[in-house]
Amino acid sequence: MSHNSDLLTLRSVSKSYGVVPVLHGIDLAVRDGEFLTVLGPSGSGKTTVLRLIGGLEPLSAGQIHLDGKDISHMPINRRPFNTVFQDYALFPHMTVAKNVGYGLSVRHEPRKEIARRVAEALALVRLGPFAERYPAQLSGGQRQRVALARALICRPRLILLDEPLAALDLELRRQMQEFLKSIQREIKTTFLFVTHDQEEAIGMADRICVMQAGHIRQLGTPHDLYYRPNCEFVARFFGENNLVPGMLGPVTGGLRSIDTAIGRLICSVENQPSLLNAAEGAAAFAAFRPEALHRVETDGTENHLTGHVANLAFAGASTVVTIATGDNALPLRMRLPSRAGGSVLAAGQRILLSFAPHEGHLVLG
Ligand SMILES: Nc1ncnc2c1ncn2[C@@H]1O[C@H](COP(=O)(O)OP(=O)(O)OP(=O)(O)O)[C@@H](O)[C@H]1O
Ligand SMILES: [Mg+2]
Repeated sequence: MSHNSDLLTLRSVSKSYGVVPVLHGIDLAVRDGEFLTVLGPSGSGKTTVLRLIGGLEPLSAGQIHLDGKDISHMPINRRPFNTVFQDYALFPHMTVAKNVGYGLSVRHEPRKEIARRVAEALALVRLGPFAERYPAQLSGGQRQRVALARALICRPRLILLDEPLAALDLELRRQMQEFLKSIQREIKTTFLFVTHDQEEAIGMADRICVMQAGHIRQLGTPHDLYYRPNCEFVARFFGENNLVPGMLGPVTGGLRSIDTAIGRLICSVENQPSLLNAAEGAAAFAAFRPEALHRVETDGTENHLTGHVANLAFAGASTVVTIATGDNALPLRMRLPSRAGGSVLAAGQRILLSFAPHEGHLVLG
């Protein structure tokens, strides 16, 4: 799928509640037709970004543009957006069909046209047979689908979803993730989806915007964020990671060394100007994923590490091995496929480890 043009852009958008700043000069471009996920810890400003875009809150500074036109001060009911909230906000005394058609009936659309579009929207979320039920007679997942149909019926340019699946149990949540994604592919409407669940973000998003403390730290594909985090926060927040502090050494080709308490490590810096150009001796972290670490039989390899198995944690498909290394026993995590016969490793045993330089990356400290 190609997403060429920008649908919505935020330029230097700031927000304060009273004297307390909560967003600090956010720049963000949402591409037409993409599924963009906003990910960040509690209180990082995700809901605030959505509320500003939706027009539920005024900006303190900056502008929001839609198709190049400034909509910063456009009233909420004129913005071609729709919001789906975590708690669905359905009208309990209205049937499913009336809930879904509500947006059209307040606009006084002809009754026939409303009926046609309600049927279309309910078919899209596979709830045709439920049209005459009341919200209390539906499951959580079905209520969420009603809320989605209600948002879709006005054919918005952008759907804003604020943790819409947070109230669902894990199984239903997974089903709804696939369902939402398939609907988005089908109708090609732009989705801006807030979550603090990184697995949800990885599985659904074309791109992810990572927020922390009112700032956007990184915007990229799930793959970019996982393999090329641009800062310590993203490297720690996004997926499990080993981060070893050290001082940058020389660059050789697309690789750069870093001197750490557990020895000199070599990591890829290809296509990362900030790391190619950083001064020798600068503080940084070597970052490598638990699945990139593997056992080696003899020493002498690059990125050679020695340690002791401190703990083995069975996690279903894989087993997480914690390894104490170096004098200060810096713990590293390694993820191995589980085996029915139990792990070949035992707590306390000495172990030799390595990771390939292209599996490692550096982030500035
Ligand atoms: N109406 C308000 N008045 C004052 N402060 C607010 C208001 N709404 C949000 N805040 C503050 O703004 C910051 C960002 O809140 P926001 O709701 O955007 O976070 P969030 O990332 O959505 O968090 P969560 O994951 O918990 O939903 C928080 O520190 C919050 O306390
Ligand atoms: Mg929130």
